[in-house]
Order: sequence, then C-alpha cells, then structure tokens
Amino acid sequence: MVAAADAAARLIVAIDWDPATRAFELRNDGLTYILRVHRNGALGGVYLGPPLAPGGDRALLLGDAFDGFDNRLAASVALEYPTAGSGDYRVPAIEVEHADGSTVLELAYVAHRITAGKPPVVGLPSTYVEDDAEAETLEVDLRDALSGLEVTVVYSVFRDFAAITRRARIRNSGTSPVRLTTAMSASLDVPDADWDLVHLSGMWGRERQVIRRRLAPGRQAISSRRGASSHEHNPFLLLQRPATTEEHGEAIGFSLVYSGNFVAEAEVDSRDSTRIRLGINPEGFTWRLAPGDAFDTPEAVIVHSTAGVGGVSDTYHALYRQRLARGPWRDKPRPVVLNNWEGTYFAFDEPKLLAMASAARDVGVELFVLDDGWFGQRDDDTSSLGDWSVDRRKLPNGIDGLAQKVEALGLRFGLWIEPEMISRRSRLYEEHPDWAIGVPGRTATESRNQLVLDMSRREIVDHLFDILSDVLAGAPISYVKWDMNRTITEPFSPSLAPDRQGEFFHRYSLGVYELYARLTKAFPDILFESCAGGGGRFDPGLLAYAPQTWTSDDTDAMERLSIQYGTSLVYPLSAMVAHVSAVPNHQVGRITSLDTRAAVAFFGVFGYELDPTRFSAEDRAAVAEQIVFYKRWRELFQRGRFVRLRSPFDGDGNETAWMVVSADRRQAIVGWYQVLNRVVPPLNRLRLRGLDAALDYRLSLWPSRSDALERANAGVRGGDELMAAGLSLDASKDEALARGDFAARLFVLEAE
Ligand code: DGJ
Repeated sequence: MVAAADAAARLIVAIDWDPATRAFELRNDGLTYILRVHRNGALGGVYLGPPLAPGGDRALLLGDAFDGFDNRLAASVALEYPTAGSGDYRVPAIEVEHADGSTVLELAYVAHRITAGKPPVVGLPSTYVEDDAEAETLEVDLRDALSGLEVTVVYSVFRDFAAITRRARIRNSGTSPVRLTTAMSASLDVPDADWDLVHLSGMWGRERQVIRRRLAPGRQAISSRRGASSHEHNPFLLLQRPATTEEHGEAIGFSLVYSGNFVAEAEVDSRDSTRIRLGINPEGFTWRLAPGDAFDTPEAVIVHSTAGVGGVSDTYHALYRQRLARGPWRDKPRPVVLNNWEGTYFAFDEPKLLAMASAARDVGVELFVLDDGWFGQRDDDTSSLGDWSVDRRKLPNGIDGLAQKVEALGLRFGLWIEPEMISRRSRLYEEHPDWAIGVPGRTATESRNQLVLDMSRREIVDHLFDILSDVLAGAPISYVKWDMNRTITEPFSPSLAPDRQGEFFHRYSLGVYELYARLTKAFPDILFESCAGGGGRFDPGLLAYAPQTWTSDDTDAMERLSIQYGTSLVYPLSAMVAHVSAVPNHQVGRITSLDTRAAVAFFGVFGYELDPTRFSAEDRAAVAEQIVFYKRWRELFQRGRFVRLRSPFDGDGNETAWMVVSADRRQAIVGWYQVLNRVVPPLNRLRLRGLDAALDYRLSLWPSRSDALERANAGVRGGDELMAAGLSLDASKDEALARGDFAARLFVLEAE
C-alpha cells in the first residue's frame, strides 16, 4: 500500500490502488473497505470494518490468493459481484441469459478509474456531493470475454459520513442480445455468521417494526413484489453482533435507494461466511440488453459502525438529511400543518375548510393541507382519481379561490394528489381505459376501488406532468402531499414487447421518478411530502425528491411509538411526519391525552390531523401552547441528533424513551412514554446519552405539573450525572394514580 508518510498527507477520504497486490483501499475517518482483483480476474472482497491506519501492508488480509473455482468448487471466497454457474453456489449478484440460452459469466478485471466526487445515476435517485472534495469514486470494469458483457462496479466513499455507496452499470458490448435476470446493487461477503439480522417489517398501519433474529444457515430475505417498497418490508437490512447495543459494538447497515420491487437478503453458507445482497427483486425481473445497451442498478448505501446501532443510524440520518434530500426545503424549518383528512374525510365544502383553517391559524398552525376529495366528483373513494380538476360543488371558487382565502388568513396552502392512480369511474378512464395497468382479457384486480396508471409509458407521465403542472401553477400552492394508495397487480404494459414485460416494474419506478424529478424541478419552492397509504413507500428513493414522508396512517400515539422508533433506525426526524389526531383514535379507538399525543408527534415534522373547530376552550389553549413549544424547539426536533434510549421492542414493550440533542450538545429534549401504568412502579432511572459531561444543564419538564417527577428532576444537573445516573422516573403512589395509562413526559435540557 501507499507509504505511511504519503498517507499522512492525504485527505481523510481516499481510495488507493496498489498494483503489486492488485488491491483497492477505500477509507474515511469512520471505516476502511478493501477489495482486490483475484488471479482469475474476479473482484474479491477483503475487508469492511473500523478504519485501519493507512500504509499497512495488509499481508494478513491479502494472503489468501484465489485462482478461480477450478478444483475448488464451492470455496467460500469473498466476492464483490459474484456470478452463478461456475463454482460459487451462493446467491449471485448478476445472472443473464445469453442468446444461446446459456447463463454462465466469467467476469474479469479490465480497468479501473479513481476520481474525485460522485457522479449521479442517470434516471435514478442517489446520494450526492456538493463539492468534489466530499467523496471519491472508484469504478472497476469487469468483462466477460466470450459474450462481451461488461459490468462496472461503482463505489463512492464519503469524507463526512462513515458510508460507502455501491451500484453497477451493466453494458452489452458484444454482438448478440443478452437478457439480464438478476442485477444487484451490492453484494458483500462478510467472513463470519456471528450476527443478528435486523429488518423493518409490518403492514399498513404498523409499518417498520424492528424484527431481530439470529442469522441461520441458508438464505433469509425480505422483499417486495408489490411495485412499491411496501408497508410490509423496508429496503434495509442491519447486521449487528449479538452483543451490540444502541451505543456499543459493531453493526453494518445496508439501505437501498429505491422505491420499487427489491430484495435484501443474507445467505450463510456451510463455512459460516455471510453473503449480503441488495437490489431490484430478481423475481419477475428481466431486462433485454441489445448490443450497445446499458442498465444502471439503483444505489445501495452501506454504513459501518463500532458505536452500536445508534452509530449506524447517526450516519444514515446525517447522510440522508444532508446529501440525499435536496432542494430549498432540505435545510428549511418545516411548517406546522393542519391536514383536514381525519377531520372531514370526503365531506367538506369551502366554508367548512375555511372555518378549520381559521381555527388552525388561531392556535398557531402555519400551513393548511387539503387532502383527498377536492377533485372530480369524489364524495368517497369509488371515483374520480385521474380527474385533477376541482369539484365546484364543494369548492365553487376553485383551488385558487380557496388557497387565496387560506393565504389571506395568514396560512400557506397545501394540496393532496395521487398522480399514479385512476378510478374506473372517471373521465380519464372513459377516455383512456388502456392507461390502467392490466392484462387484456383478464380481471384487473381493484384495491380501494382503484387501478394504477401505467407509469412505464412516456405519454402517461407527460400527461400527468402537464395536468398537475396546471393545478400547481393555478393557485398559490406551497406544499404537495403525493399519495399512493394501492400496489400493483396484473403487471403488464402494452407498450413493451413480449420479451420486455419483465422490465415493467422497474420502468414503472423510473416513470414515477421522472414525474417527481420534473415536478420538483418545475416547482422548486413547493415542499413535497411523499405518502403511500401512510408509510408504504417510506424509502430513500423518494426521499431524494420529497424530503419528508407521512409515516403511517395509524395516528394513535401508543402505536406511533413503535412505528417512529423503527423508522428511526434509518430515517432522520426531518423525514418523519407525525400528527396529533382526535380521540377516540380513528384507527384503534384509544383515548390518549392531548399532551401524550403531542409528546409523541413532536419527534418529527409536527402537525395536526383533526377538526380544530371542535376544540374545547381548554384544548384550544393546550394546542396553542403545544405549537409555541414546538416552534421554540423546531430546529432541535427536525435537525437534532436523535438518540434511542429505551425500545418498545424490548421486554414487555411498556416503555419507550428517546431524545434529540443539538450539534453543540447544549440543548436536548428527552421523551419518555409508558403504555400501561403499574401499581407501585419500579424505581426507574433513565440514563441519557450524547450530552456534554462537562456542562451543567437546566432541566425543566413539559408539561409542567409540579409533581414528584418534576421535583426530582427539575433544576440544574450535570451532564455527567444525567448520563451516568440518569433522570428519575419514580412516581409517588398518589401521582402514579393520577398519571394513568398512556403517559408521556418531556424533559427539556438547556446548558447553563
Ligand atoms: C392515505 C393517506 O395516508 C392518508 O393520510 C390520506 O391522505 C388518505 N390516503 C386519503 O385518501
């Protein structure tokens, strides 16, 4: 490797190539990643882990040279872009069908390039840099000599984040067509299986629950075939050592910047090596590469930490907030909104909405969002999707008239759309029944009484861009909530040749990205929020266009604890929209206090989802105070470092605690939540993290109640004491009685 003296003079981010060992070393302050070219030309994995001092000879790591599988069938050699059918029996990164029907590839090193910066992926979302000094990129060209197929494996390493991105570009440089049947974004072999596998799984209303299990021999995967990343599984995997905690120990995250069908898989082989692969789901996928054609995979983001699961989250939060989200809203404080959905559903008219907006303005709300039901003749969910013109029965002055009145009240105005959908009962369907996805002659399965538009077709994307541009240009619209309320069935596009139907799902995603890219470019000042029946497409792909996402349709505060906790493994609070809704809660019927509902929703992009004209005088005053509190601490809630303290997935799940800390560690807010109360509760201390041990903090409680909890904690406390000994959550018997179930309390810390 490079001489130590040279290395010391280098930038913190670096990629080196050593022609003697044919090894690449990628490193930054947080990690080192080493790969090599084997003697047979295959690209091999060597090391991913804590940073190694530059300049070492790496003899320990590079000793085991590999000549190929000849006479070594099924050797557990670590490979970076493995192929099938020639000795490696684990899951491959790439599979093809050649013109003669054979499927074997022998990918061998041809050349490489190391460049400053990080190029974008054409047509796909990705992380980015604003200055070439922020990252270095390595492109390694591999070639299958017989067919001419070329694969460029692309790695970028960031200066400021302990993350590596990976993707591949597959090009047919031969003379015959090739059918791609698997094209992973990343494949990585870890030399042991002593890991727990963590993923975020659930369903509508219960998204991103933390599932943790021991790795076992064989394949274990999560995936989507729904045309969206889905409520069921998030495109993310985490490996953590069994002893790893939130703050200590090794963990590696794998996140896919993609919103469509994906697979995230671990395979433990008979030698206890673990292969992780991540990319477009090969089930149902094919891509025809004519001579000269190329295919780009989505980007995978790999994060390594020795500071526990929290360390992995810290990196994803910072990277995704600063270098995945983009546009003017990336860094701006997000407004407190009132969304009318749970307040009215489809039953509203202009006076009703203006009364709600006015009541919202009076308590401090900054933006009023008109949700579903404003267009066509949409009195329920059986009609009108696709007819993006205002329903003048409800809104005689149009969106423009309404938006202007809302603005005159001193609020900004936001609008809900669901571009990708079509109702059978719509003008659009009468004119273009063939625009709905379906196989001619077969049943088109409905979901929520709607069908999906074929976003793989350019004319449909163009139509949506034109019609939605008119809507957005026709009124003072500051915010758009882009919903997607069903996933895809009967995948087929008449625009694709029979041998290209396997391209349908990915082309659908490309169409969605194109529409997002065009609309966000045409309307840069609009704050876009993505949504898919709640959090059914809460993924890094959409975060590249819409910096925030509606986290879940379940707005119950207790249910939201586990949803928001799980979401926070990958996604920053600036992406996580959380609203206070009415009680009894519309999803689970639970009655929680207004304080508790706010104390949960504060940790994210805050707002309300109810009818504020129905507030009692007491509620009105409480809500006004909540909004003052949130605005006072908005910067901290939206951009502070989020630290998980107690997991709703541990033990009986009765308690959750988390906190946000400012970058300078001078301010922090801790949230503590208890589902069910207990007689004589345990002596309970909550140790904080991420504070400055040398600072003293003035501690106050929200809401302030002059109770035992407040007496025990309020005052000036040392950061050392708060982290080593912790807050006291002990309550006297009387106060425990008064507290009841579904309790929440916030602790506000300000350095003296
Ligand atoms: C699902 C969303 O998640 C809700 O917030 C709401 O917008 C409805 N769709 C409207 O149909």
